[in-house]
Amino acid sequence: MFSAAITGTGVFTPEHTITNDELVAAFNAHADLFNAENAAAIAAGTIEAKPHSSSEFILAASGIERRYTLDKEGVLDPTRMFPKLPNRADDEPSLMAEMAVDASLQAMAQAGKSADDIDAVICAASNHERAYPAIAVEIQQLLEINGFAFDMNVACSSATFGIQTATDMIKSGSISSALVVCPEICSAHLEWRDRDCHFIFGDVATAVLIERDEGLQGDHFKIKSTRLATKFSNNIRNNNGFLRRTRDQMEDRRDMQFMQNGRKVFKEVLPMVSKHIAEHMNDEDVQASDLKRLWLHQANKTMNDYIGKKVLGRVPEADEQPNILQDYANTSSAGSIIAFANYSSDLNAGDVGLICSFGAGYSVGSVILERA
Ligand code: COA
Repeated sequence: MFSAAITGTGVFTPEHTITNDELVAAFNAHADLFNAENAAAIAAGTIEAKPHSSSEFILAASGIERRYTLDKEGVLDPTRMFPKLPNRADDEPSLMAEMAVDASLQAMAQAGKSADDIDAVICAASNHERAYPAIAVEIQQLLEINGFAFDMNVACSSATFGIQTATDMIKSGSISSALVVCPEICSAHLEWRDRDCHFIFGDVATAVLIERDEGLQGDHFKIKSTRLATKFSNNIRNNNGFLRRTRDQMEDRRDMQFMQNGRKVFKEVLPMVSKHIAEHMNDEDVQASDLKRLWLHQANKTMNDYIGKKVLGRVPEADEQPNILQDYANTSSAGSIIAFANYSSDLNAGDVGLICSFGAGYSVGSVILERA
């Protein structure tokens, strides 16, 4: 058996940001339009009036202050309320591939590696912009990487599931390196017209280069252990899919965008994640006092505070459990990887840290790392 290590990371960040105040102003204008258009039905009690959103609620409930999006205008247009992304011809790079290539080149540069050094590409994301061919194969071609590539989707946990998949292939010897990329265009599946969730997501792409840990020069993190778990739940769900046309569901339907029962997610996912991390650490003989850093999935600050306290047995210092969700919002599978990419270079040789992602499925994945 071989060992594997993370040798490079990259983060592609879109140019547009939307603050909570901008988002709420657009939502409230949309709600006013909706209520005026439906005044008679609202008065008759057949349609519910849309209440206003508030920046104070968003910050208090989630910890999110702003998010990056590929398009701002469409999202903030009260008569539209979703991004407007230009159509691309089939012979142009797809948007997800373009974002992933940007992040991948950063990861490769950090590791000092070229396409010839890489054997596989895994595109692990919550959504893929077409059914086929796989986005990963297009990324592979754009980067001129040999070998093979494939897509996978485990929603918010896609990154850690991709990392374990790549690590296991490297350990077995079938490949010696892989890029795990997470291009997330969350703005396109978010329902911006629903105040319960309109603030949750942002767009980003991350890349992680994983290599066989053999004669590695330069900075890297040894992958000591990985662990995955899933348990079916309908509490985070999106019904959009290739059967839509067959079911005569082409109209504008709420269930074709992100839906969640946030309270239930909170109650059910927190114990699942805390137990998962505790058991993983216990089985690998990692004590809370050994952990120098927790790079958690970035959905909600209160959730992260809770998990950090459970794992460490005390309130974590800010630098022990860094959050990026105030700037990026929830970026699905990319969140924990942005935290890792931005807050890992200060660790010393021998320091241990843990990446953990969790979300729809339900799914949870953890990766124990040691700075070489
Ligand atoms: N502005 C003002 N008020 C709002 C609002 C908004 N944008 N959105 C909801 N509210 C209201 C609700 O209607 C509710 O009012 P009520 O008490 O009169 O019914 C109240 O605020 C509380 O709403 P609730 O949904 O219970 O808030 P919450 O504290 O659970 O926070 C989330 C909402 C989504 C931030 C939180 O549940 C969460 O983060 N859950 C887990 C999310 C997660 O990890 N999902 C994974 C996604 S991949």
